[in-house]
Parts: sequence; C-alpha cells; structure tokens
Amino acid sequence: VKVIQLDEVGSTNEYAKAIAHEVPEGTVVVAKRQTAGRGRKGRSWASPEGGLWMSVILKPPRVDPRLAFVGALAVVDTLADFGISAGIKWPNDVWVGGRKISGILVEGKAGEYSILGIGLNVNNPIPNELRKNAISMIEFIGSKLPLESVMNRLLMHLDGWYRVFLERPDLLMAKVREKTFILGKPVIVIEGDERISGIALDVLDDGSLLMDIGGQLRRITYGDVSLR
Ligand code: BTN
Repeated sequence: VKVIQLDEVGSTNEYAKAIAHEVPEGTVVVAKRQTAGRGRKGRSWASPEGGLWMSVILKPPRVDPRLAFVGALAVVDTLADFGISAGIKWPNDVWVGGRKISGILVEGKAGEYSILGIGLNVNNPIPNELRKNAISMIEFIGSKLPLESVMNRLLMHLDGWYRVFLERPDLLMAKVREKTFILGKPVIVIEGDERISGIALDVLDDGSLLMDIGGQLRRITYGDVSLR
C-alpha cells in the first residue's frame, strides 16, 4: 500500500479528504504529530509525537458507520499482538482496563470516499489531567515500542477486517459483539441532549446499540456510552 508519511499536519483526516480523489483505495496518511487532531463530536484529540495518528482512504460502496468497527477490531488485534488485552467501547473507542487507548473517527462523502481515522496512544505520554481516563501502550508495557512495527501490524489487521466487512459483515459484527465489553452492563448513553440510562443488551447488525430502558427496548444509533 501507499503510505504518505508526514512530520506534522493539522489532521491526517483532513489531509486524507483533500487527496482522496487522486489516490487509490487503501492509501494511508500518517503523521508524527498533529496540530489540530480531531475527535468525535467536534472534540480535539491531543496528538503529540510518539503516538500513531493515521487515516486510511477507503472507497467502499457507501459511507458506513460500521467502518469504525473495522478500525476498532484491528486495534484490538494489534494490541493483542503486543500482549495487551483490550475491548471495544461502543461505538468506536478501544479501552484497556477501564481507560481509553484508542479512538476512531470515520468521515466520508457519499459515493466518493470514506476516511478511517485512527488514533492510538503508543509511546506518547498521557497528560496528567487525562490519566484517569486514558492510557498508552508504553505505560502498560513499561518500555518504548517500535512505532513502525505497531503501524505495520495495524495495517495488516485493517486489511483483514476490511475484507471481512466487505464480504461477510455478519462475521465482523459477531466479532464486535464478542469484543464489546459493555454488553449486559448498566450504562448511561448520551445521545444529543438526552441522557439515557439502561442496560446495554446487544450490538445489532447495522452497528446500533440495543438497550433495555426499564423494560422498554430502544435502539441507539450514535452516542457516548459510560458504565454506570
Ligand atoms: C475520538 O475518540 O473521538 C476519535 C479520535 C480520532 C483521532 C484520530 S488521530 C488520526 C485521525 N486524524 C484526526 O484528526 N483524528 C483521527
């Protein structure tokens, strides 16, 4: 695959969008640091040197929110390769022992391209104010990791899960269910202005979260989940 390596960029997702038309599917944009890294819901994403900040340009038949799971499963497998057991926090975070290690941001233009942006805390130190909720691989393992091999493992797993997504989305979703650690647990979901309290029951085939809210079933398509 073609990998565009940058020292510094505002956001690899923005860069990827700008070149999406000119490059083949699978092109990867990776930067040592981002000066305007972005997260979901307009949040910013701290991206100092040492982390893995990358975006993959994909051209699937349509922009599909389940692409985030392709990223999340690839991250989970990559972490497993380095001896770290991780789970998916619906819809698109990867957590290790109660702390976030990776975030995924999918953006796209219908009929044109999808950008799968992945931020993975590898060797970057976590600022004190985020310590309670975030972790990086170096903290878990205790020594510096070769960023390049972390990236290569990730690209390999992305390739595998993207194929599964295209050919057998049911298998992708089965794996997502297996790795989603909030299922069966009491959670709070923030969807828009609403705070929904209930039990997370299942991740449905379209990627939405099925919740039990005091005996009523409800499907949530997008939101922020926390364990109660
Ligand atoms: C989130 O957890 O809210 C998603 C974070 C996504 C961060 C990655 S880093 C590479 C790519 N470029 C960005 O600006 N964001 C994504």
